[in-house]
Amino acid sequence: MSELKILTKRAGLPDSVKIDTYLANDGYKALTKALKEMTPAQVRDEVLKSKLRGRGGAGFATGMKWDFASKNTTKPKFIVCNADEGEPGTFKDRVILKFDPHALLEGMAIAAFAVDADHGYIYIRGEYPEEAQILMDAVKEAEERGYLGKNILGSDLSFTITVHRGAGAYVCGEETALIESLEGSRGQSRIRPPFPVNSGYRKLPTVVNNVESLSCVPHIVLNGGAWFAGIGNPECPGPKLFSISGAVEKPGVYELPMGVPLRELIETAGGMKDGKAFKAAFPGGASSACMDASEIDTGLDFNSLAAIGTMLGSGAVMILDETADMVKAAYVLTRFFDHESCGKCTPCREGLTWVKQVMAGILEGKGTEEDLDLLLDICEQIQGASFCGLGDASVNCVTSTIRKFRGEYLNYINKEPRVRAASGEKS
Ligand SMILES: Cc1cc2nc3c(=O)[nH]c(=O)nc-3n(C[C@H](O)[C@H](O)[C@H](O)COP(=O)(O)O)c2cc1C
Ligand code: SF4
Repeated sequence: MSELKILTKRAGLPDSVKIDTYLANDGYKALTKALKEMTPAQVRDEVLKSKLRGRGGAGFATGMKWDFASKNTTKPKFIVCNADEGEPGTFKDRVILKFDPHALLEGMAIAAFAVDADHGYIYIRGEYPEEAQILMDAVKEAEERGYLGKNILGSDLSFTITVHRGAGAYVCGEETALIESLEGSRGQSRIRPPFPVNSGYRKLPTVVNNVESLSCVPHIVLNGGAWFAGIGNPECPGPKLFSISGAVEKPGVYELPMGVPLRELIETAGGMKDGKAFKAAFPGGASSACMDASEIDTGLDFNSLAAIGTMLGSGAVMILDETADMVKAAYVLTRFFDHESCGKCTPCREGLTWVKQVMAGILEGKGTEEDLDLLLDICEQIQGASFCGLGDASVNCVTSTIRKFRGEYLNYINKEPRVRAASGEKS
């Protein structure tokens, strides 16, 4: 399938981060159109019609989120861009942050107009220092040219943006932990409701949107919601940035229509590395359940992946070939989640350490078949009993690999100790 050039259309241009390049390539046309020709309700309506669903992971309808925020008249109101990009396997927002920062600023300014917000924050992961500087420079340029600041383009909209760097905690990508961190507190998730649209930053109405979601907005305003809704899967449409990593020839970020089959994404990324056979994929980063070879023709979109028991998340597709060890893969991911748990609620804090220990026992050859039931039992207690999505999604790697690759667990469990000793493995 041929790649799209919508969200990535400016990414390859020389000096693509500069406002002059942006202006010469349709930049700030959508904001001008919104401010001069549309009402906030008309902007929200186009976003609703576009059927844009959040690209940060949860897939919530952006137009609906903006409608809720617009109904809350408490002031001041905030737009927070989630640029934490911490999901293992995700690196697609980086393309926008690094090569097209004004697209994000324009999307945020349009969002501010649509919901009547006063100030914006970009919460960017600490590991992106270069991108943070690019954003700060872009904000300055936009202010100097009147696209941010007081009475933007002579309108009633006054809005500017502060860039805030995170400090490397995965949980701070979760919107309520992000807000806690932005306020200067320890990054721990808040119980919801209330949702940030009603009680977010400093308990005030706050729209939290992902970098890619906000960067879709100028295109929707310029070309119309119906145009956007006509791309890819009609039920959850639009262009989508996929980060593909692992056992493919050309890992990277590819822009394709939402719903592209996994097989075609792999082909776009140069095919399987060294011609090896496809074994499995985690289609939505570390948080998603794995797909096996029988599911390779499934469309990569929110609905098709949910129908087979997994999820699109942020579109971080990790590919494993025939040589991959699925038990080790699940263990490595579990170790990550256990390390990143914020510790606020017991099922996630204690449960993940327990899962990690049982998994380690299996890998060391000390496991029993009952351990597999034990693992599924602990995972069930973590899922649905945790405060935030970190706990809920953390065990998908374990449950899905037990379900789909049980034989590999049994190989570890049934291996004779002397065979392990001969192969130099620890028992
Ligand atoms: C543990 C965890 C980490 C998350 N990390 C990110 C992230 O790095 N970037 C992001 O946009 N959303 C992340 N999310 C999702 C956000 O909570 C939120 O749904 C999203 O920023 C909303 O924006 P959207 O509607 O535009 O997708 C994360 C969620 C969880 C549970
Ligand atoms: S689920 Fe985990 S990360 Fe989320 S609040 Fe509970 S302990 Fe923290």
